[in-house]
Amino acid sequence: MGLAQRFRDFALREARDNSPLYHQRALDISTDQDVLALIAQLPTDKQQPNLVLAAARVNGAIAVPYSEFRDQLRENWSAISATALRRRTQTNEAGRAATLLPALALLPGPLSLIEVGASAGLCLYPDRFSYRYGSAALDPSDGRSPVVLTCKTTGAVPIPDRLPRIVHRAGVDLNPLDPGDSDDRQWLSALVWPGQGERLSRLNAACEIAAADPPTIVTGDLNEKITELVHAAPRDSTVVVFHSAVLSYLSPEARADFRATVRGLPCHWISQEGTGVLSSLADRLPRRESVAARLVLALDDEPLAFAGPHGQSLDWFGPA
Ligand SMILES: C[S@@+](CC[C@H](N)C(=O)[O-])C[C@H]1O[C@@H](n2cnc3c(N)ncnc32)[C@H](O)[C@@H]1O
Repeated sequence: MGLAQRFRDFALREARDNSPLYHQRALDISTDQDVLALIAQLPTDKQQPNLVLAAARVNGAIAVPYSEFRDQLRENWSAISATALRRRTQTNEAGRAATLLPALALLPGPLSLIEVGASAGLCLYPDRFSYRYGSAALDPSDGRSPVVLTCKTTGAVPIPDRLPRIVHRAGVDLNPLDPGDSDDRQWLSALVWPGQGERLSRLNAACEIAAADPPTIVTGDLNEKITELVHAAPRDSTVVVFHSAVLSYLSPEARADFRATVRGLPCHWISQEGTGVLSSLADRLPRRESVAARLVLALDDEPLAFAGPHGQSLDWFGPA
């Protein structure tokens, strides 16, 4: 796909309903030959609109009129391109814990959590967040958390009456981010799209929780590290490997390898990925309108629910 089309697609398919500013900005870029020529200097995998726009933001290209934004972009291009080369799209959304929690609660505790593609590990703290599923409220034992996750539900969601006990938190990422590091926090914030203030507050509060008790996140490829991570977890706990919005970064072969490996390990497996990402699930999903923008929640390769991409909704079709 050409670069102009890539920005146009991003505007129309991803940003339109989520960030009016990014929608318009990506559309403007898609017809701006000078700016496209600058972005085309980056390697193809670094030309992602989300990455370029975040790199522009952390380097001061933030003006709202497009004419001023493009001047800022051109003036600051050497710093913007350096950021795009150094960074990746590693959006870490603690809100996804709200859709993971009902699957976690189906398992006997205490739990050892291992997240592959963890970014800064914010989804490793489901026991430290508060949840609001319609009229059902769940809080940590010491009271309401600074991170309150609101999730709309349909179907017979097995909402637990208490949060799981978690005795071990670990993960792997190609580039783990440190929730206590100001530079990494600035990057994580830049990955939250303009106009999404609630997500930004949630990110900051979740980073505080994670920074106070950091998980062990090893650097590396998930297929290379998963076996040792599972074997390092305490044996007297239920080991759960999970991931959300990660496997789309892998080739179909690498996804298949991961599935085969994780199924052979002494652990449970919770996946939360786009509808077409795990082919083993694709033909076992109920028909729904507009599932394209949703994730599929599955436990041990059994699909359970459609989840909103940021944990804002859960449409349960699995067993109650
Ligand atoms: C979009 S982020 C999602 C982060 C987190 N799972 C969440 O839901 O908020 C995807 C993460 O997967 C990581 N990742 C991608 N491919 C990977 C691989 N082969 N091995 C380990 N981590 C990977 C990226 O570095 C990034 O941090």
